Amino acid sequence: MAPLTNRRWVLARDVKGKTTEGDFRRADTRVDDAQLKDGEVMLKQLLISFDPAQRTWLTDSSYVTKIKVGEVMRAISLSRVVASKHPDWQAGDLVRCLGGWQDYLIISPDEVKKADAIADPKERLTRQSERLAKVVLPPGVPMELGISLFGVTGLTAYVGLVKVGRVKEGQTVLVSAAAGATGSVVGQLAKAYGAKTVVGIAGGPEKCKFLVETLGFDAAIDYKSQETKRKGLRRCIMERCPEGVDLFFDNVGGETLEAGISCLREFGTVVLCGAIGEYQKPSKEIAGIRNYFELVKKSARVEGFLVPRFASSFGEAVDELGRLSKSGQIHQAHDIQAGFESLPKTFIRLFEGRNTGKLLCKL
Ligand SMILES: NC(=O)c1ccc[n+]([C@@H]2O[C@H](COP(=O)([O-])OP(=O)(O)OC[C@H]3O[C@@H](n4cnc5c(N)ncnc54)[C@H](OP(=O)(O)O)[C@@H]3O)[C@@H](O)[C@H]2O)c1
Repeated sequence: MAPLTNRRWVLARDVKGKTTEGDFRRADTRVDDAQLKDGEVMLKQLLISFDPAQRTWLTDSSYVTKIKVGEVMRAISLSRVVASKHPDWQAGDLVRCLGGWQDYLIISPDEVKKADAIADPKERLTRQSERLAKVVLPPGVPMELGISLFGVTGLTAYVGLVKVGRVKEGQTVLVSAAAGATGSVVGQLAKAYGAKTVVGIAGGPEKCKFLVETLGFDAAIDYKSQETKRKGLRRCIMERCPEGVDLFFDNVGGETLEAGISCLREFGTVVLCGAIGEYQKPSKEIAGIRNYFELVKKSARVEGFLVPRFASSFGEAVDELGRLSKSGQIHQAHDIQAGFESLPKTFIRLFEGRNTGKLLCKL
């Protein structure tokens, strides 16, 4: 194949506060399959995933190595092998990887496997995340599910709710950022596993309607509404969960986390999945949990998790998610934007709450 233009978005400057389009700049290169060495594969990116954690990857306080100015913006992606000099990878294979905001990449699958030996934990996790995962979908299953329900989104929801939260029949489950990629799957999984009441917190009446009418949540709270502002989030939760919350799956942090904690029942559980409400704040503005003593009073369990650390459960998770999606008990919504030019703008959608379901961009 003739040399091709490889469009790339790189980090233009250190990001402080809210992410803007100006934090990224174009730095296109050329790519050529003639450059391929033995053991390497060339990938063409098809779908780019947008994950709130990417904002933390722009800081020193992340769980992975910070993305440096001039480097391609890191992102999970779904790609197609277009050329291969590796016996285990053939042209046409669909793969999930950490391909970043670019059209093409050349990678050595065996080199990436050596990441386990890296001593620095942040760098080890960064390099381990670059591993290629073959995506084999049953006939008729749309490609995007390979990077949403059967990718990090579904795995996070399953591991967080089942392995960390240990959800049980009859429980009252509260989910924040409930209309987003992870939260929407968590709520449906909780219902599928017999939760008595599932309540979602989301921004706006449309999202709340979607949770109840389309996804089968029992109730939803619009945290942006005048009613919630007037009554306070805690009271709104207690109105919908009069006996209190057994399991709170939190994606937001800050005051949302505090409100959920204050509604816990005795021996309740808080699953700390993420804190999107805090990711754009300078570290000195991130408040602690002011009502942490509630956790003591209620003998509650609080457990955080990072999904890559639960790889031994991924097979079981994919089987379960496949079964529940086939039986119609789980529906993964998508917000699929289009066009390479729109990648920075699309990323910002996450923090403006403009997505419902999994946010992706088709290249
Ligand atoms: N622990 C892990 O391994 C792991 C893995 C994947 C994801 N996560 C975490 O899971 C959470 C959800 O991620 P996702 O990929 O599923 O994203 P998502 O929920 O699809 O998108 C983010 C949503 O968060 C809400 N949001 C944005 N800013 C907010 C704010 N300031 N306050 C309250 N809500 C806000 C918005 O919905 P509204 O309109 O409702 O505000 C937005 O649509 C994130 O915290 C992420 O870091 C953790």
